[in-house]
Amino acid sequence: MNTPPLATKSAAGQPAVDLDVAALRADFPILGSKVHGGLPLVYFDNAATTQAPRPVIQSIVDTCERHYANVHRGIHTLSEQSTELYENVRQKIRELIGAPAVEQVIFTTGTTASINLVARSWGDANVRAGDEILLTEMEHHANIVPWQQLAARTGAVLRYIPITDDGRLQLETLPRLLSLRTRLVAFTAVSNVLGTINPVREIVRAAHGAGALALVDAAQCVPHQSIDVQVWDCDFLAFSGHKMLGPSGVGVLYGRRELLEAMPPFLGGGSMIRRVTLEGFEPADLPAKFEAGTPPIVGVIGLGVAIDYLNRVGFEAINRHEEKLAVRAHEILSSIPGVRILGPAPPRTAGIVSFVLEGIHAHDVAHRLDRQGIAVRAGHHCAMPLHKRLGVAASTRASFYLYNTAEEVEFLGKAVQEVQRFFRRGRPHARA
Ligand code: ALA
Repeated sequence: MNTPPLATKSAAGQPAVDLDVAALRADFPILGSKVHGGLPLVYFDNAATTQAPRPVIQSIVDTCERHYANVHRGIHTLSEQSTELYENVRQKIRELIGAPAVEQVIFTTGTTASINLVARSWGDANVRAGDEILLTEMEHHANIVPWQQLAARTGAVLRYIPITDDGRLQLETLPRLLSLRTRLVAFTAVSNVLGTINPVREIVRAAHGAGALALVDAAQCVPHQSIDVQVWDCDFLAFSGHKMLGPSGVGVLYGRRELLEAMPPFLGGGSMIRRVTLEGFEPADLPAKFEAGTPPIVGVIGLGVAIDYLNRVGFEAINRHEEKLAVRAHEILSSIPGVRILGPAPPRTAGIVSFVLEGIHAHDVAHRLDRQGIAVRAGHHCAMPLHKRLGVAASTRASFYLYNTAEEVEFLGKAVQEVQRFFRRGRPHARA
């Protein structure tokens, strides 16, 4: 049950073996679903959340049936078991992202909570009126709004790295955007709309060259490729478990040790203290200092099983598979008249393809695709400023993961043409 059928991790220097997607899909019960009276489900909403394989589902059941108790609290067998299972995941994550120590891996409820933690804790302690935070025009709201809130509290100024019309960062603007007032550059490693893969190391180096810190939103990156925070040299990194086959409600913040040690706790309560008196408190050491209250115990343990699963399949093979799907999706969609694809053409883009159908609202596109069994996201994908920059109110997004097939991508092309035919026939509900 805990062994995915595909051990495709390549030996050093050998090309990765292609994924045996058919065998792999058997591990994901939900992918066998039928919708709308018998249509096979095509799940293309992986940038929003991913599906869980049987080992993750079984881990949730096992934890609840056999090991569940609060962590770090009870001197009893179940609590010791749950604490061990929970803390083992911290070690798995340390290895996954190349963090120097487990104390630098903080469990949160998701990428959003991780970024908010930094904005509140590091930001309130270090950012002053007139200081600058540099973001990009392609950020998710989770990496914009916390900084807008920080700016409102402190008088800091937000600046944005502009993008090109085809959705790449204009990095040549960095020298003029970075200044002695820049305290932080916060940017996404992979755009959740465009699939653009940003040159993280280069941006971190530029930030450090200006004396600023660098925070990487890795929500769309860690699930799909191997990374190393020490190679990137970033100061903070945030990602979520539910975008990498794990349960929702679990995320991670990685931070450079000296920064985390100097930062005040964000949430106060149980677990994050060493001592409390009626007059005050002394915070606990890392990582407990930032983990107030009962954490998402079952979710963290499930995330550990998801990481084992992904490691067994192999990130290199996953990455290659998604790139192939993205290349084919681009080929098919760009050959259909009336389709505008947002973002750069592959290769070297992630498995995310957002597009606009001329004269048809994205919600209507998604609705008609759903009627054919295809699940996509429609709207602004939590990136309203990016859509405004590209001159569109909304888009439809297909996002791929290890269990998607080339046949599903071919079907998307046919289904999009069917949507166009449907609206050409002058059906009601068109909002465009
Ligand atoms: N951040 C998720 C998305 O892009 C929810 O869809």
